[in-house]
Amino acid sequence: MKTREVLYLKIAKAITEQIQNNTLQLGDKLPSVRSAQKLYNVSLNTIKQAYLELESRSLIESRPKSGYFVSQLSRRKLALPSVGSFKSAGHQQAPQDLIDKVFGTIADQDMTQFALGVPGKNLLPIAKLNKSIIDALKNRGDAATGYEPVQGNVRLRKEVAKWAMVLEGKITEDDLVITSGAMNAIYHGLMAVTKPGDAVAIETPAYFGLLQAIQLLGLRAIEIPTHPVLGVDLDALKKQLPKVAACCFITNYNNPLGFQMPDEHKKELVRLIMHYNVPLIEDDIYGNIYFGTSRPRPCKYYDEAGLVMWCGSVSKALAPGYRLGWLAPGRFKERVIRQKLVQTVCSPSLFPDVIANFLSYGRYDHHLRMFRNKLYANYLQIQKAVAEYFPDNTKMSQPKGGFMLWLELDERICTEDLYDLALRQKINFAPGRMFSQHERYTNCMRLNYGIEWTDRVANDLKKLGRMVKNSI
Ligand SMILES: Cc1ncc(COP(=O)(O)O)c(C=O)c1O
Repeated sequence: MKTREVLYLKIAKAITEQIQNNTLQLGDKLPSVRSAQKLYNVSLNTIKQAYLELESRSLIESRPKSGYFVSQLSRRKLALPSVGSFKSAGHQQAPQDLIDKVFGTIADQDMTQFALGVPGKNLLPIAKLNKSIIDALKNRGDAATGYEPVQGNVRLRKEVAKWAMVLEGKITEDDLVITSGAMNAIYHGLMAVTKPGDAVAIETPAYFGLLQAIQLLGLRAIEIPTHPVLGVDLDALKKQLPKVAACCFITNYNNPLGFQMPDEHKKELVRLIMHYNVPLIEDDIYGNIYFGTSRPRPCKYYDEAGLVMWCGSVSKALAPGYRLGWLAPGRFKERVIRQKLVQTVCSPSLFPDVIANFLSYGRYDHHLRMFRNKLYANYLQIQKAVAEYFPDNTKMSQPKGGFMLWLELDERICTEDLYDLALRQKINFAPGRMFSQHERYTNCMRLNYGIEWTDRVANDLKKLGRMVKNSI
């Protein structure tokens, strides 16, 4: 087993070198698995593993019935974004004005929506969800008019626990509490383990929803420098851990940076929070939207102390409007259930059944496979368009999943000014200032590529690139 592992990595390395020195060029077809087997004189499995490894690093891509090809991503010409610095003082206020302004455009149907983290409705399985609604109504004696248990619909909790396969049975329905979306799960997590005035460690740039929740609860956000590929800087975090009441991180396909925190870092992160006895609210809302070969583990997997509060929801791949999410609150479960009882009594009854149906009949799995393929294709398109139409000094993130792209533009550019210009052309994006409480990232923007890819979308990116060039 061990020898085969080493062998497949050796082969993956040899092919990587061929790609890097241009022996294999963009779009070139790799030898079929059988030819490669003969070429390297190894087993079929070894070659398959080597190709999977290269695919998970986005160096090659498989096309159905055609084989493996050198991918676009192997030819990256733009640099990665910089790592934000640590700031303990200065202006500290969630950028509410700008967040409200961007959310104000949510209902405009004629806008190219690169701004909000919402999947385009053409990418969602709407007909099948509608069928699930009818099935759910038919199968419930009370037509979903009654109260649910406070902890949440048992069928849904069972299905979510089954879906949390990546946790290898560490979560059962008893460990989960159903919430009103992931945002509400985060809010419950924060409420359960902090009191006003406490500090909470978050990534920077940070998902603006976190900044707002922290502010609303009277807490203080401490923005920890975050690497665009590796995630939060663990050395920087270690210095802050004695001073914080909780951490809140998006470890898989981070919003906005798109990274997947490597397993070793997740393990170390859990070791650190255990050492300092600091709860971690882990927002894993994008975990199923991976471009590699398998779903990454969350930190929750490594948590032996019940300190990780794991959150998810159906908002990113199924139906943001259902307002359905969950929290595995670990040792804080009873507190969270009490909070929920006081706050909302229970969740609405219908949609948990709808989603439980959808998950139990294998429809989610089927949808996710298509959804991931489409998003990956969109990612290839958007990164090609940015490389082509934006200035050469643009820095671009390298998402491994999800549907957010983070761009750092020339320092002279103010993306808030650019926002107003773009809006006049019915193009929307999220300006960088939304992602910090310290008035920074003013030359950055986040683009959502989870939308249906049309000629208009491609053309709007071209226009946006031109606007950026004209603003320098
Ligand atoms: C990282 C992250 N967490 C939470 C949310 C909110 O999710 P929900 O709609 O399930 O409340 C979002 C939505 O943009 C998100 O990107």
